[in-house]
Amino acid sequence: MPLPFAARLIDWHAQHGRHDLPWQVKDAYRIWLSEIMLQQTQVDTVIPYYQRFLARFPDLPSLAAAPVEDVLALWSGLGYYARARNLHKCAQTLMARHGGVFPADPAQVAELPGIGRSTAAAITAFAYGTRAAILDGNVKRVLTRVFGIEGFPGSPAIEKQLWALAESLLPARDVDIYTQAQMDLGATVCTRSKPRCTSCPFAPDCVALRDGRTAELPTPRPRKAVPERQGRFVVVTHAGHVLLERRPPTGIWGGLQSLPELPEDTDPAHWVATRLGLPVLHCTPLPGLRHVFTHFVLHLEPWRVEVTTHTPQGTPPHQVAENSPEQVWHPLERLEEAALPAPVRRVLEGVMGRQGTLGV
Ligand code: ADE
Repeated sequence: MPLPFAARLIDWHAQHGRHDLPWQVKDAYRIWLSEIMLQQTQVDTVIPYYQRFLARFPDLPSLAAAPVEDVLALWSGLGYYARARNLHKCAQTLMARHGGVFPADPAQVAELPGIGRSTAAAITAFAYGTRAAILDGNVKRVLTRVFGIEGFPGSPAIEKQLWALAESLLPARDVDIYTQAQMDLGATVCTRSKPRCTSCPFAPDCVALRDGRTAELPTPRPRKAVPERQGRFVVVTHAGHVLLERRPPTGIWGGLQSLPELPEDTDPAHWVATRLGLPVLHCTPLPGLRHVFTHFVLHLEPWRVEVTTHTPQGTPPHQVAENSPEQVWHPLERLEEAALPAPVRRVLEGVMGRQGTLGV
């Protein structure tokens, strides 16, 4: 690199960085407030909230003395309200234990409510010029791209590597400018999508740009393995009708009509004969179906069970198919009128398609 990382960024910032943000003042209270508001919110959204907040709470003592409800009211619309509760708690802690003054040591600041390692470093760097590295989402994006670091940056191993790298890149001085420059580069040039690489001071050395991998870095959060479960269902049919059952209001397909679902490993013919009290003519497996829900995959295992009557036989306890608002014999020809989940409809349409050839 022609210039070290930090020097290049500081040079870039002089020309292209943001210099007129309202929290660019040497006041730890104002800096802290802005950093908390900016944790999950964009600059443009934050500015009016920040100004209203300061008009009502111009300093730490006024915030610490206020009822938390007043703080929440001023936060209303910004979201993530734990931030406001922690802000209030933090103000009270600073008054009670630190004489109303923000410590200059980032390790001490990081102990305060709602402040993590990166935010603590930003506050102390901006307010006191303390030499401490930040590692927020913007910085992670810049570092993983420029240095070509693979792996999800939120994982402990990669995060550790990134912290070490961030520490190693810190300049000897102008840490406040350097900190703001990293945020600005991430927010305006090295953006998540469509980065403006032609305007980037690291373009000559960026590994991601060189390899055409800016869209792949940083590595996204790995997808969790989705649990898979088996569901055995019965298509009980007689004389052109199918037995439908309303699902309980909660759980999958809540309140929709569906096919009776069997307990795991239950024999379908035996279950229909004993639990529904319907004499079985024949029982055959139908083609299985895979259905993806948000949190799991369901393998539907449908069985066709043709019975000889609509009326339950024998003595209870069986789940009576007749006279139950939860179970109805529905004409197979009028499936479009039933409130069926899509995969159940597909199973039944398959049955309809097969009817002619099997003659049942
Ligand atoms: N995001 C977090 N801190 C910021 C700051 N000081 N300026 C602009 N955006 C930020």
